[in-house]
Amino acid sequence: MEADISPLKVCVVPFGCQMNRADASAIQELLERRGHVPVRDEDEADAVIYVTCTVRQHAEDRAFSRLGRHARRKRDGRRVILVLAGCCAEKEARGALERLPELDIVCGTRRFHLLPELLDRVRAQGGPIVAVGLDGRPGHEGGFHWRTSPFQAFVTVMRGCDNFCSYCIVPYVRGREYSRPPDEILDEVKRLADDGVKEITFLGQNVNSYGKGLEPPCDLAELLARAGEVEGIERLKFVTSHPKDLTPELADALALPKVCPYLHLPAQSGSNRILAAMNRGYTRERYLELVEMVRERAPGAALASDFIVGFPGETEEDYLRTRELVERVRFSQVFVFKYSPRRGTAAARLPDDVPAEVKKRRNNDLLALHLEIAAEDNAKLVGSTVEVLVEGPSRRDPSRLAGRAPTERIVIVDGPPELKGEIVRVRVESATALALYGRPEEEG
Ligand code: SAH
Ligand code: SF4
Ligand code: F3S
Repeated sequence: MEADISPLKVCVVPFGCQMNRADASAIQELLERRGHVPVRDEDEADAVIYVTCTVRQHAEDRAFSRLGRHARRKRDGRRVILVLAGCCAEKEARGALERLPELDIVCGTRRFHLLPELLDRVRAQGGPIVAVGLDGRPGHEGGFHWRTSPFQAFVTVMRGCDNFCSYCIVPYVRGREYSRPPDEILDEVKRLADDGVKEITFLGQNVNSYGKGLEPPCDLAELLARAGEVEGIERLKFVTSHPKDLTPELADALALPKVCPYLHLPAQSGSNRILAAMNRGYTRERYLELVEMVRERAPGAALASDFIVGFPGETEEDYLRTRELVERVRFSQVFVFKYSPRRGTAAARLPDDVPAEVKKRRNNDLLALHLEIAAEDNAKLVGSTVEVLVEGPSRRDPSRLAGRAPTERIVIVDGPPELKGEIVRVRVESATALALYGRPEEEG
């Protein structure tokens, strides 16, 4: 039998974190190189590839229920290749086929590079095929990056996580940490800069442990400094950092001219009892010391954090400690998540004993507190000037422009559409908890 090598219409659908989105973009590029044609409409595609997230149950359920719709259509006779890729695939492996027997391919987080070949095999011999396992490195590294605009790109610099926070599935689905060699990354930065990219975000599950095991040694602070010297690069960002690996050198790097003074440093909780149960490796006091260090070495830097509410055994007292931490640090951004037990993690053995309505109340309360603080802090910026990389028309009001300040704050700018892709100095005229508003400063 001759293999069918005609191009497929492929639809790659990303879920979850930025690294997943970068991976989805690499997968799409790999498939395009093989001659397949990307389409936006899932219903039009010959192959639907879900690049999934399993960090909370809700994320996983969403992917499976959307895939379920395709499975039903397949049972009704529609010909389509269904691919479960990414973190859910790694977690469920063969079990995914029990949940959704219509799946043709289950492809884990370190097997993405095999997808073109797996699609060929399914077309020639039928499925299902399960390709998972955390050994080795993903073969899709190098030369792939995620471009969100002609002037912005994301580059994965390290992968994996060795921290095993007790609630978290990521170490089990992304495997052990490893860092890409700095020269390879810097070559990529240069190529991107030559192609008009001004802003690069370095990605890693634990980006500030970048460099572990590299010979000759290099760390994230050094990588940022070297990338900042590349001509054409105006802004460097990095996410996400772990408090226990935050060095004075990285805090200093936040004050470098090209590095954005923004640090996403998830605290997760303000209670020492809960932090210990989470296996985070720091106390509330240590976290506050780190905040002080950042504020001393990089004055004006914005700090952002994630918090989990309703971790097993979290009392009202524990929650109040979290609330106090938010009041004390005055984060510029706060992301709050309701605890979701993940099978196989240490915390999943503890009773999920905080009632759903209590989780919800704490979640809403913490967000409301943060919004109050952000509104006050943003109001203090009225009258100042911020540098904004203009990303394009504002989604809420397309007659205006939207962009970000170096601190990640969203800035809505009254200005002409030609400013898209430019870094402009904007005079802040008003502010809300979520955004600053202003117009470009007059020249001269
Ligand atoms: N590596 C990053 C991001 C991990 S996932 C880091 O350590 O910061 C992003 C966020 O999801 C975490 O910071 C945490 O707040 C949240 N999260 C992870 N596992 C969770 C779980 N089981 N339930 C609820 N939130 C969770
Ligand atoms: Fe998960 Fe903790 Fe690793 Fe972040 S550091 S990915 S929360 S185990
Ligand atoms: Fe989700 Fe995997 Fe990212 S579990 S948060 S997509 S690393």
